Amino acid sequence: MGARVLGQPYERRDGTLWCEGVPLEAIAAAAGTPAYVYSANALRERYRALDAVLAGVPHRIHYSLKANSSRGLLRVLRDAGCRADVVSGGELLRARRAGFAPDDIIFGGVGKTRAEIRAGIEAGVLLLNVESGAELEIVEEEAKALGVRARIAFRVNPEVHVANAHEFIATGSRGHKFGIPWGDVPAVAARALASPHVELAGLDMHVGSQLTSLEPYVDGVSRLAQLARDLQRQGAPLRYFDAGGGLPARYDAEEAPDLARFAQIVVPVAASLGLELIVEPGRFVVAESGALLTRVLYRKPSGGTDFVICDAGMSELLRPSHYDAYHAIEAVRPRGGTSMVDVVGPICETGDFLARDRAMDDARPGDLLAVRTTGAYGYVMALTYNTRPRAPEVLVDGTRWAVITRRETMDDLVRLEAETLEWTEG
Ligand code: LLP
Repeated sequence: MGARVLGQPYERRDGTLWCEGVPLEAIAAAAGTPAYVYSANALRERYRALDAVLAGVPHRIHYSLKANSSRGLLRVLRDAGCRADVVSGGELLRARRAGFAPDDIIFGGVGKTRAEIRAGIEAGVLLLNVESGAELEIVEEEAKALGVRARIAFRVNPEVHVANAHEFIATGSRGHKFGIPWGDVPAVAARALASPHVELAGLDMHVGSQLTSLEPYVDGVSRLAQLARDLQRQGAPLRYFDAGGGLPARYDAEEAPDLARFAQIVVPVAASLGLELIVEPGRFVVAESGALLTRVLYRKPSGGTDFVICDAGMSELLRPSHYDAYHAIEAVRPRGGTSMVDVVGPICETGDFLARDRAMDDARPGDLLAVRTTGAYGYVMALTYNTRPRAPEVLVDGTRWAVITRRETMDDLVRLEAETLEWTEG
């Protein structure tokens, strides 16, 4: 690691925090709080940096929509040249609405329904990633019914161990639910190669997320390459080698991911196999572009803990309570001094916190805080628990900003509830 740190879109000017050319106080005053803010130029910069290091081999960067799927943000990435990776019929719809062409979309996911598989084939996605023999059978049936040959890739479980990953974001080890179990691959491949309804065009893996050490890629890529060679020998018409996502974001004092080292691991392998390289980054592209703005409502010392109670909590950012994840929190306009506090939200859950035992800028009621590195897995994991509307999303581009997702209203929240009941006799 020890790589160049990409530009930080958030910086202090005259004692207050700005995103690019816009003061966060101005956004909070106009859009209210809580609110998610994203820097368009940080998105472009990360996409371009990754694109540049992969230049040695034909490649495609398919941004993983699961990290953040707002149309306004997707359009920035699409316009920069990025492609899309989706894991549900809903994400497929979002990618299409944001203007991604079907053959710029790959469709993965461990539990695709028959309807989702059909939608993917009908749309003509570049690759449908198959994760089991049972799923392959459904893909074959649906392709046959539609009278087409579906282009598929195998997502295999590379059975690579990732040290230091939170157990909930490790995905590529033996015994995880994701991917075709390593030992099952030959049988599933034999079936696919014999089928007139599918074309096995790619191999895919995802070794894990937030890979602060890139070494798991070394193991994963070499195992996937071996498999590619075996399948090529058996006549598989492979065209794509997909190394998955997992490049890390900087949440704290982590070193920046060494993109050059990443390229050294993946580029020569894809080149030697004669395959086009695919990567599926989510977090790396969007995490650092984002900040969550929240206003302090109360300060409450209780039983030895000093609580800063904010208008955002686990419903806006689940990562601290779900993964014990660290997100830096700073006062947008520090008043001077620090204090040791628990930063919590208004939700009726003791597990509702953004930070615990944190030494941070002293914050008082009315102060505006920025929770950093929230561009990935923030809004997309938002909850409406306690009937709290989801916060708006704002895109900053240079000296301009726009609401890309409006704040949910109370009407939005209750809209699906039946007013009069239409009973069906059982
Ligand atoms: N491709 C596949 C097949 C994946 O399973 C994932 C993430 C990605 C790509 C994108 O991974 P990334 O580049 O963002 O690491 N909610 C968790 C992260 C779950 C990631 C699951 N899979 C969190 O907030 O940390």
